[in-house]
Amino acid sequence: MISSEDLKTKPIPKHVAIIMDGNGRWAKQRNKPRIEGHTQGATALRSVLEGCIETGIEYLTVYAFSIENWHRSPVEVGGLMNLFIKSCHTEIDNLNRNNIRFRAIGKLDMLDSECYQELKRTEEKTKNNEALQLVVALSYGSRWEIAHAAKQIAKAAEEHRLNSEQVDEQLFANYLSTHFMPDPDLLIRTSGEYRISNYLLWQLAYTELYFTDVLWPDFSKEELYKAIADYQTRERRFGKTSEQIYDVSK
Ligand code: IPE
Ligand code: IPE
Ligand code: MG
Repeated sequence: MISSEDLKTKPIPKHVAIIMDGNGRWAKQRNKPRIEGHTQGATALRSVLEGCIETGIEYLTVYAFSIENWHRSPVEVGGLMNLFIKSCHTEIDNLNRNNIRFRAIGKLDMLDSECYQELKRTEEKTKNNEALQLVVALSYGSRWEIAHAAKQIAKAAEEHRLNSEQVDEQLFANYLSTHFMPDPDLLIRTSGEYRISNYLLWQLAYTELYFTDVLWPDFSKEELYKAIADYQTRERRFGKTSEQIYDVSK
């Protein structure tokens, strides 16, 4: 088994993003209702958080519920909302004990007020923690986020708070809900699906991608370590050549 000490001899990704997929299939394989897959998924996340702390990852952004997921059945959506509320309650001590700051990003005004209040309360109660930032993307869609940023920029221009000449990549990124983090270094998607599904489209421009067949409820700290070990074999060139990366004089 890979240990965190082994991993720490090489660069650790600062920001890991995860598309936590496969909960429904995990439940189906066991003839259980889908919500049981989601509940088990919350346990997997706890193990991954432990792995992040042990390796020194600074930001973990997890896709918990997409804007498109609102189209699922009311039973599943209601079950997920209850799970988010319950998890905020049960995990708060764990977050504080491990010095983890919690944040939610997404179109949060679509949530019912109980869920919204609970998320805000968890953000408030963990705001001074600094070992790791756990960012939960919830009611999140990247196209929504980008359109929303464009709208805010247009509004600022209309109100003469900025002019069009100032709009560049950095300014645009500052209007996204991820403005407080660097872009992800590593993206993990579970359950054997090879797509992005409207997640962090802007931010993933140069992220290393890792796909695994493991269903999210079976994912764990050990699986995270495998993904990090794989990441450590990659050469990140950002458009340059290999020679330029290794020899700064070129
Ligand atoms: C991911 O698991 C969690 C959410 C999208 C809320 P799924 O519920 O999509 O599980 P599968 O893909 O149907 O197995
Ligand atoms: C992406 O999974 C969203 C989350 C994991 C929250 P989906 O299961 O909704 O994605 P598609 O529909 O298979 O692309
Ligand atoms: Mg899915």
